[in-house]
Amino acid sequence: MKPSAITCADSTLALLRDPYRFVSRRAAELDDDVFETRLLLRRTTCMTGAEAAEILYDPTRFQRAGAAPPPLQKTLFGQGGVQGLDGERHRRRKAMFLRINQPDRVEALAEVVTREWQRAVGDWEVAGQIDLYPQVQLLLTRAACEWAGVPLPEAEVEVRTRQLTALFDAAGDVGLGHLRSRAARRAAERWATDVLEQIRSDQLAVPDSAAASVIASHRESDGRPMELRIAAVELLNVLRPTVATAVYITFLAHALDVHRAWRDRLAQGDGTEDLAFIEEVRRTYPFFPVVTAIVRDDFQWRGHHFPKGRRVLLDLYGTNRDPRAWEHPDRFDPERFLGADPGPFAFVPQGGGDPAVHHRCPGEPISTRLMGVALDQLVRHMEYKPGQPAAPIDYRRLPAIPQRGFAIQQIARRRS
Ligand code: HEM
Repeated sequence: MKPSAITCADSTLALLRDPYRFVSRRAAELDDDVFETRLLLRRTTCMTGAEAAEILYDPTRFQRAGAAPPPLQKTLFGQGGVQGLDGERHRRRKAMFLRINQPDRVEALAEVVTREWQRAVGDWEVAGQIDLYPQVQLLLTRAACEWAGVPLPEAEVEVRTRQLTALFDAAGDVGLGHLRSRAARRAAERWATDVLEQIRSDQLAVPDSAAASVIASHRESDGRPMELRIAAVELLNVLRPTVATAVYITFLAHALDVHRAWRDRLAQGDGTEDLAFIEEVRRTYPFFPVVTAIVRDDFQWRGHHFPKGRRVLLDLYGTNRDPRAWEHPDRFDPERFLGADPGPFAFVPQGGGDPAVHHRCPGEPISTRLMGVALDQLVRHMEYKPGQPAAPIDYRRLPAIPQRGFAIQQIARRRS
């Protein structure tokens, strides 16, 4: 068995300093896809690469109950949601999300987002210069609530946008940012609870296919409706990440600015290469660094011992850039997505495996479709100039949006 003491000093600070590259860099130094360390004083095994991903998504070896670090449960995830379920309870709850995100519903959301985007461009024309990241958060909050069946009076748009954003944008912070994110979770859960209560008591009529209605009427394996507190967590599991697509849209605008030849190619194209560009943005830009799971029962893999109860981290960012799966991984080349499908474990920006069976994100059709709306608007329906030369990405930040945000100016609707 390989010596596991090599990296057993606590690595929490090293991970916080470089959350996206810590695992792949340490693995490269050790020339091993698996290594053991301590995080928050707890022994933790870190893994990288497609084969490690395939192991982590094997439900006979790993469970998710107890896997999420407590600070993230109090901010990003909430308690009692689908992320911490296993087996039949997980499959049943997951089916609810797949119903919420089925193709006609994704198209319905894309239509609302397109309308909100067009409306926002009118305001941006008047403003002259805007920071794209917070502006897209606002328009996605409006669109997500309308689509999900959650009433959002105009006077509440800013506060709800701030709350939903704080759940993902400040969740990885320590100190004040963390406290802000916890307060946002409490307020947002109260809001979601109130909406679901109104739907259950017929005070609020919402179309059956809308997310809030599907969640309000969902029944657990024992035939009972979900506990209201948990239903609120699940409603936020739809609203929060839909708004978080603002991060990917900011990356998209950054990539269009940095890769001008591609921008021209997409502008002149018929849209068939849009998805390849979007996938390359999701592969190369840093959003979700890792996922975690707990070892069910002792096993050995690649000469390493995985003891029951051990927390294991899978490196998503590094797996998407692993040279064994990706030729010239640091090169931004959307053409790689015009060819063969990379498979369910090598391309894991939103997790790996099968979303119906594993914990892979059920929201990939939404995030890629909304990035498609943004690409179409930015490239084919708007004129604008970047406010400053594209800033480098801040890899210490979670999520790692460009330093100083992404300002655009001289904005006009293209009239053709
Ligand atoms: C904005 C871009 C998004 C990113 C980067 C992202 C990323 C992820 C990641 C990394 C996971 C964890 C996978 C795992 O544990 O193995 C996940 C799970 C999840 N995502 Fe997303 N996601 C995004 C958008 C969405 C959207 C739009 C929705 C819903 C509308 C959504 C709903 C969920 C849910 C419910 C889970 C838990 C799934 C489970 O545990 O089975 N996500 N996402």
